[in-house]
Formats: sequence, structure tokens, C-alpha cells
Amino acid sequence: MSLKTLKTKKELKWSANDIVYQIYPRSFKDTTGNGIGDLQGIIEKLDYLHKILKVDAIWLCPIYKSPMKDFGYDIADYCQIDPLFGNFKLFDNLVKKAHGRGLKILMDFVPNHTSDQHPWFIESRSALKNPKRDWYIWQKPKPDGSPPNNWLSRFGGSAWTFDPKTKQYYLHSFLPCQPDLNWRNPQVQKEMRKILEFWLVKGVDGFRLDALYHIIKDDKFRDNPINPRYIPGHDDPYRQFLNVYDRGRPATLEILNKFCGVIGQHKNKFLVSEVFYQTKVAELKTYYKLCQAGLHAPFNFNFIRLPWSAWAYRSFLDNYEENLSEGDCPNYVLGNHDRSRVASRLESRKKARLLAMLVFTLKGMPFIYYGEEIGMSNVPVKNNEQLDPWGKNVPGFGLGRDAYRTPMQWSAQKYAGFSKTKPWLPVARNYLFFNVKKELADKKSFLSLYRNLISFRKKSKAILEGNYYPLNIRSQNVFAYVRESETEKVLVLLNFASKTQKISLPFAMAELVCNTFLSRKKGQKINLNKLYLKAFEGYLFKLKK
Ligand code: GLC
Repeated sequence: MSLKTLKTKKELKWSANDIVYQIYPRSFKDTTGNGIGDLQGIIEKLDYLHKILKVDAIWLCPIYKSPMKDFGYDIADYCQIDPLFGNFKLFDNLVKKAHGRGLKILMDFVPNHTSDQHPWFIESRSALKNPKRDWYIWQKPKPDGSPPNNWLSRFGGSAWTFDPKTKQYYLHSFLPCQPDLNWRNPQVQKEMRKILEFWLVKGVDGFRLDALYHIIKDDKFRDNPINPRYIPGHDDPYRQFLNVYDRGRPATLEILNKFCGVIGQHKNKFLVSEVFYQTKVAELKTYYKLCQAGLHAPFNFNFIRLPWSAWAYRSFLDNYEENLSEGDCPNYVLGNHDRSRVASRLESRKKARLLAMLVFTLKGMPFIYYGEEIGMSNVPVKNNEQLDPWGKNVPGFGLGRDAYRTPMQWSAQKYAGFSKTKPWLPVARNYLFFNVKKELADKKSFLSLYRNLISFRKKSKAILEGNYYPLNIRSQNVFAYVRESETEKVLVLLNFASKTQKISLPFAMAELVCNTFLSRKKGQKINLNKLYLKAFEGYLFKLKK
């Protein structure tokens, strides 16, 4: 192997404490001037990710060839890059440059469905006897011509679409132009395996498995039971039925196990899967058990859902910490391309700062959704300007996701330095105050908090390896815990209340690493006998061992 190849194919190891940065490529950085982000844009920002933010890996939302009806989650060719984002030359360059900096790359892999423009589906729908017919899920109509059962599409309406040519219905858990693959078909499995291998040879370091929960459906196609709690007109119509038969089937685990089998044959690869509806620790645990230790983690979305209280966070963590085994990789997500930005969900940047301190002082993998580190908030998009098919198909329930996918705010330049032209989604109005350039110069900014926490974390044995001990303190509004390794001990105090809380702890003077507002001087000694935590303020201390 020539030196050049050796360099490009550098193997990077995963660690259970890696920080992963999620990039929504359409909105990261536009270099071609079409208002849509691209691969070259990501390449140009690698130094920001590596040197300034110091993350360890990036997850790229889909960049495959796609009609973009679901903005890339509708794939027409798994082994091509959509020209909107670039080409293989750029992709190879991205891998090389990322790896050269020690940054790993996770590809978003969408196994549940393809685009209806994928050649497999075009063949499958062409005739009842086509060899690819069984690659998708086809069923006869009921005698009255209606769909085979009551399953609904996540994005509105029936999950079945009638195809006049062959007079059968095909299944789509999402849009009608996203037909679901039949994972019981061995050829589908074989083909998917080849695709994974293709990208592994290209040098990627792993995959994020999209919508895994939907991958296997009941083979008897039984109707879903009615949801007794559904309130018509008030709830998203998708909630009318309990998803007993169309998703979350026990066989999902077998499929995941097959993915692990493929990835496990390669060194230094990692999988993280979207098992969205499994949020209970016991259920997450069953997903960990499937693969060899350290190879796979199911996303933990609990921090997106927990009620806002010190107790809720503490009880979850006590349970998570206690139940995960050695080698299981805990992970934390505050937002993503499907969920509200954390600062908007909590309606407070102070609270978002508090959660940042929490995730960066825990053992495990924090996931940062692009822009989260500068405190980006949701950007309202007018109803008639909505682009997300979910919001458009099911209006009135606030389901559209455009608000969380708006252009990254790089600077105070026009369009926030994201593009020279009007971007595909509006730029936040507050970009003059919340942007990378400005926040880098401001020692108390959101970005500075992220940088402080990440730099400290990277050197802290207590955070990376230490045990977790929650403390029982008087104030129920403060979540307090110690992280302790053989050589280091740190203390975290997080005030979940909107009022100042007085703390009194039996530790001697403690050395301040930072408070969430970055208002106090680093390194100063603080008396923990009497400390006042302001509303939603957090403190990170080093304690004497
Ligand atoms: C996953 C993706 C989401 C997409 C859906 C259908 O849930 O995260 O963005 O719309 O799958 O592909």
C-alpha cells in the first residue's frame, strides 16, 4: 500500500466518550451559491469542528442521490452522491481531510424504505411477476377495494397506496413516495449488506441507522388496535391506533443483529440506531445486548422528553447508569433534525446551558445537533412557506420540521455567512447575536460554554472514566453529583429552579472549572458551605482528592 493510500484509509478508533456532531448538509455551508449546503462547505468547516469545537466524529444526514421529497431520506441510489451536495471526488476528499484531523464519519443509512424512483421499486411495481416484486410490501385490496388494513403513514393518511397497474397496494410507513422494503426477503438483506460494505470500503467509520423501529412489520398484516386515549381533532391522527403490528416488532432485533454482524467484521466501526419509541432503560438494554460490546448504541432520546425537574433527570440517570453494563455506550441527545432545538423546547437558553453542562460531564457520547453549540433556536416558517412534507400533509399539529433545519449561523454577514444567495430555508432573525464569529469573541457566549466544557472534559479522567455518585442534598431543585476516578474528583451542581437556591455542602474549598453563565473566574476557590445558585445556573468544580 502506498503511503498516500495509507494516509487516506487511516483507521480511527471509537471511544465510548466520543462527541458526535450531527450535520444536516443542506443547512451547514453553501459554497456553490444555490442556497443549499454542500460537501465542500463541510470540508471548509472541518477546522471549526476539529480545532475550535473539538468534536470527535461527524454524522452526515443523507447525501445520497434522491428526489429530495423527504430531503434525502428518500433514496434513489444508495451508492451515488446527490449532485446537489457534490460528487465522489469531494466525498473522498472529505473523508481524507476529516480522518487527517482525527474526525470520524458516520453515514446516515436509511434501510426501511427507498424512494419510489429507486430502480428496485420501479421494477417491483412494473409487474406482479417481476423478480423484485417481493422486495417491497405488496398486498391485495380488501374485497371492497379498500387498503389491506388500518395502518397509517407517519406523514399522514393510510400507509397503503394503490398502484393501478398491478391493482395492489404497497406499504409506506412515511410518504407514498417512500415505499417500505421487505426485510424478510433475503435478497434485500444481501443487497443492503453490499451497500454497507461499499461505504465501509470508502472509508466511513460507521452508520446511524434511520427509523429502525419500522423495519419489520407483522407478517399477518393484522389491524392495529384502536388507541382509547386518542382525542380526535386534538391529537395527531396518526395516534388513532396503537402501533402494535406495524412497528417495533420483536424481529426488529434480529435485523439489527444482522447489521452488527456486517459491521462487526470490520475493525473500528460503530453503529447508532434510531429506535425512537424505545426510551425505557430496560428496553434500550435489549438493544445493547444484541451486538458485541462497544459496536452499537441505541439512541437515548430521554433528555428530549423528560419533564423539567432535577428529580426527573436524576432518576433517569440513576437508572441508566445502574443498568448499563461495562462496554455499553451511554449517549445523550438534546435535539436533532426531527425534534425541536433544545433552546426553543425549553424556552430558555439558560436551561439549555444547564443541559449542556449535564451532558458534557457524564460518561458516554454526547450528540450535538449543528447550531446547538451557539444556542440556535427554532425559526418560525410561515404555513404557506413550509417545505417539510410532514407539516404540509398533516397541518394544524405543529409537526413541520423546517424550524429546526434552518441555515447554520456562521457570522453577521448577510444570510449569516451560510450562503451568498437566499437560502432554502429562512435564516434566524437573531443571527446577528447568535453566530459562530461573534460568540467566539465573547467569553461568556453559548459557544464559549461548549468550548470550556469540552476542553475540560477531554482532559478529565473523572468525567471520562470516573464513577457517578448522585448526592442527596437539601434543595430538591438542585441535581448534584460527583464524578470520581482514581486520580480526580469533580462536582456538578445544576439548579433546575427559576429561583436562586442556597447550597451547603460539607466539602472544603472547591476549585471552580466554570459556571454555566461563565460569569465567574475559572480556577477560583469557592466555599461550598454557602453557595447561591442563580435561576437555572450550573456549576462545575474540581474537588480535592
Ligand atoms: C427518520 C428520519 C426522518 C425521516 C424519516 C423517514 O425518522 O430521522 O427525518 O423523515 O426517518 O425517512
